[in-house]
Amino acid sequence: MTPAAPAWLEAAAAARLRANWREGISPRGVPYAFTCPAPRRYKHQWYWDSCFHAIAWARVEPARARAELRTLLRAGRPDGFVPHTAFWDAPARWRRAPLYATDHVRGDTGTSSIQTPLLAFAWERVAAASADDPGFAGEALGALRAHADWLERERDPDGDGLIAILLPDESGLDDSPKYDAVYGPMAHWRPGYFRLVQRCRGLAWDSRAILATTDEHVEDVLVNVAHALSLRALARLLAAAGDEPAAATYAARAARTETALLERCWDERRGLFLDLAGRAERRVGVSTWSALAPLALGDAVPQAIRLRLAEEHLLHPGRYRAGCGIPSVSMEEPAFRPGFTGWRTWRGPSWVNAAWLLVGGLDALGLRDEGDRIAGGLVEAVRRHGFREYYHPHTGAGIGAHGFGWSTLVAGLAAGRGAQK
Ligand code: GLC
Repeated sequence: MTPAAPAWLEAAAAARLRANWREGISPRGVPYAFTCPAPRRYKHQWYWDSCFHAIAWARVEPARARAELRTLLRAGRPDGFVPHTAFWDAPARWRRAPLYATDHVRGDTGTSSIQTPLLAFAWERVAAASADDPGFAGEALGALRAHADWLERERDPDGDGLIAILLPDESGLDDSPKYDAVYGPMAHWRPGYFRLVQRCRGLAWDSRAILATTDEHVEDVLVNVAHALSLRALARLLAAAGDEPAAATYAARAARTETALLERCWDERRGLFLDLAGRAERRVGVSTWSALAPLALGDAVPQAIRLRLAEEHLLHPGRYRAGCGIPSVSMEEPAFRPGFTGWRTWRGPSWVNAAWLLVGGLDALGLRDEGDRIAGGLVEAVRRHGFREYYHPHTGAGIGAHGFGWSTLVAGLAAGRGAQK
């Protein structure tokens, strides 16, 4: 039995997921079934949202979790590319269309960009809840391998074990202040973002060419934590299917990414994992929750380092220990903004997925009370304001889109825990 959260929360989460469910046949005749992030504001299928939705569905109705992940894979290509956004039922809304990272200004079925690669990680969790469909665990191993291979071939041409993002929104952390200096006038929230997308179109989305000739790209800590989590999950799925040699290969690749995070991104002085930007791989100094994301890697990161992340940052009252959730930016950063900033995202407010990924890391350090405190603050925010896109870290007020799908992860947080099983 899945441990339960308060009955009102379980019921509200299930109702929210059902309300956001979309299924049908695309104009090209491809069947789809997914959860839209928010009915009014985000109507398409987003990659990492779908991974979180599937994990939330797994507690409610595992068949829909499986359908959501199968649909996401179907949005991809045979070479292993899986898009950031898939436009199944409706074309990209015309006002926004030029800004979606597509091949052409109009008419594409998905973006040419990626998003934080949690697919294999989600697949393993959904498989664990799929006693009614035991074949699910092994049915897409070839496609999941192709996806991991694509990421490494196209996004890690220097072979250092860290994959790179070309656009700030490829991490899902679109407007985070950590990207302000890297992208300058081409940051996601500035008009020049259109030029960044046009430049990628001009280079036919050839990642290797873009990485070799420009400096607006980032080896992002959160993205690589997700990559390592997915490689580990893929290795376990392969081992369970009896393919030990392939399992060993992907486990070794996970270890390589974990080691690269430790050797290249860990800043011993500041006690944070910092992104590397551009061809010179300059460290990006802004403290955001992504700098703490390696907490989700558990034993792969030495305990002394995880303790520093927790004690010097996550639990520091001036930095990330807030009344509600985990602020997306350290409260002592000059760029920190706790409230609504004209639809700019990730500049301070607390998001449920961040807490879901990090709280288990506190448990593993014996800091369960702190995890309970964070989960409790978010449950209370949801009770008062519903499933919103993000929450004010001081007051818990709901901000951004209404009816936001992945905020239903709070039920899993309240029931037991998040990312660490
Ligand atoms: C916002 C978020 C991004 C998410 C998308 C859809 O753009 O920044 O992470 O994937 O909305 O919910």
